[in-house]
Amino acid sequence: MNIEGHIDELRAQFPVIKRYTYLNHAAVGPLPQRVLDEVSRINQDKGYSGGLHWMDWEEEAEETRKIIARLINAHPEEIAFVQNTSVGLSIIANGLNWEKTDNIVINDLEFPSNLFPWQIQAKRHRLVTKTVQNRNEKLAMEDFEEKIDRHTKIVAVSHVQFSNGFKVDLQRLSKLAHENGGYVITDAVQSLGQMPIDVKKLDVDFLATSGYKWLLSPIATGFLYIKKDLIDEIEPSIVGYRTDENYHEYSYRTINPAKNARRFEHGQINFPGIAGMRAAIEILESFGIHNIERRIRELVDRLIIGISELKGLKVLSSLKPEHRNGIVKVGGLESPDEVVTKLKEDNIVISSRAGGLRISPHFYNTEGEIKQLLDALSFLTQS
Ligand SMILES: Cc1ncc(COP(=O)(O)O)c(C=O)c1O
Repeated sequence: MNIEGHIDELRAQFPVIKRYTYLNHAAVGPLPQRVLDEVSRINQDKGYSGGLHWMDWEEEAEETRKIIARLINAHPEEIAFVQNTSVGLSIIANGLNWEKTDNIVINDLEFPSNLFPWQIQAKRHRLVTKTVQNRNEKLAMEDFEEKIDRHTKIVAVSHVQFSNGFKVDLQRLSKLAHENGGYVITDAVQSLGQMPIDVKKLDVDFLATSGYKWLLSPIATGFLYIKKDLIDEIEPSIVGYRTDENYHEYSYRTINPAKNARRFEHGQINFPGIAGMRAAIEILESFGIHNIERRIRELVDRLIIGISELKGLKVLSSLKPEHRNGIVKVGGLESPDEVVTKLKEDNIVISSRAGGLRISPHFYNTEGEIKQLLDALSFLTQS
């Protein structure tokens, strides 16, 4: 569906716009009305009928699993529902079969959720951690080339960096890691929902994400993708009845982990949240994820031009087409926190990160809203 041609209809689905110019999707995405309704539908059902419709919720969750798989070009068997990105990353970190000589490649721009699980393993198994240092807030492929060797078990990297939106070339990184016999795990929480992701094309081995940012889904929804051939290699570290092949069989027995990614789900899943996530993905898909990426790019183009016209302000995110997206970091301010607070007084919502402003519009935002932010920034910084 054409976004510009349906913008009023689209925006009507977002209660957040009633009060806010919301340009903060790298922090927390708001929920569309249909998502709110879906979460409420399952909660109401539980309120009025307890667990009578449990199996219906299970079936609905399986539908959502298929929709998630379609979104990233995976197979439903490769998807596990998890509570958030951190849990997904930790499941892989805890479940890999570590050997004494293994090393782990991380980088110094990562969000802590994609550092701590690896640091814990490194400590537990006395492994070497190799850290790619950023160059002027960018990650260079040659630095990964230098760090990755035939002892690299895994390269852990965000698809898009949280602080400045730097997007890494996952396809090249996967090739590099695989040539050395290693794996790639990506944290996709800052990319999924704002751009197409094809796990087969990128050839990543694992992908973890939450739904609450760009995916416009409820808090505590997320999933973990595991390449089919690797499911067996990852030992389930948190286990429960859902881990088992026959998860509706409650009798005394020895565990027989499911052959598919459900083995990583352990206990009860978040049915209301998952119903909401399905609605959110359906909205994104109805407009087309390529159209969403294009629309965000247009808004960001407008923003970048506007920032360049403001004295003293500077876009610090990479402007190269292959690295940029809906997260724009702006520097040159004495006190970014103060600016964020002042903007909030005008109901304009952005964040400050790593010494700059972080602005992150989504596809339902408008050029008018970008202009509103630029006008406010002009007033706050140029007077
Ligand atoms: C890159 C990245 N990973 C992870 C998270 C949060 O982790 P979780 O999804 O486990 O809450 C954030 C939150 O800002 C993030 O930016």
